[in-house]
Amino acid sequence: MVIAIDGPSASGKGTLAKRLAAHFGLPHLDTGMLYRAVGWIAAQTGEPPAKVAARLTLADLADPHLRSDEAGQEGSKVAVMPEVRANLLKFQKEFSSQGSGAVLDGRDIGTVICPDAPVKLFVTASPEARAVRRYQELRGRGVDTIKPRVLAEMAERDRRDSERAAAPLRAAPDAWLLDTSEMDADAAFAAALAFIERKGFRSSGP
Ligand code: CDP
Repeated sequence: MVIAIDGPSASGKGTLAKRLAAHFGLPHLDTGMLYRAVGWIAAQTGEPPAKVAARLTLADLADPHLRSDEAGQEGSKVAVMPEVRANLLKFQKEFSSQGSGAVLDGRDIGTVICPDAPVKLFVTASPEARAVRRYQELRGRGVDTIKPRVLAEMAERDRRDSERAAAPLRAAPDAWLLDTSEMDADAAFAAALAFIERKGFRSSGP
């Protein structure tokens, strides 16, 4: 079973993906980390982003700095480059075609990477709800920032992600929309699980 989860930043898709993967015993790939790593490594080394994308390995995703907003911005800048996206395609296709199945989350999983996934979720939340979450997450990690700045940076990244020509952020026509503005992580997980079970998928675990 492949579960494809897309949505804008801080919509709750990453947490949801992790929990669904644990529930169904499936490997999980946070594809945003690939773009973050390419953007960040290219900015540090001056190498062309497409070249970095072509030689990226799982080991490159371990750098804790990749979780920073700076790396997120660098990631969304290289994500507009068709060659970068093409060079990351094989990695993602291979991950999603493991025998066990997989959970992938990102911006174009249901539309480009796994168009045949039997389960597609598009997770959204209002810009305000997302900004509050991202602010709390950053503060929790000890990053000194203010809410208006978080909101402005998120809006800039959303615009770039939605307006780019190459695989823009968009719900697949057959994706199930989950608005988490009024939901905490538990409620979002329960809603997604109920949807997946209605489709006939159940965990084979205890
Ligand atoms: O965690 P957050 O949602 O803020 O960002 P992310 O998922 O780590 O993604 C970072 C950037 O990578 C996004 O702003 C997108 O531009 C890009 N990305 C993409 O283009 N396609 C994907 N499948 C995943 C991420």
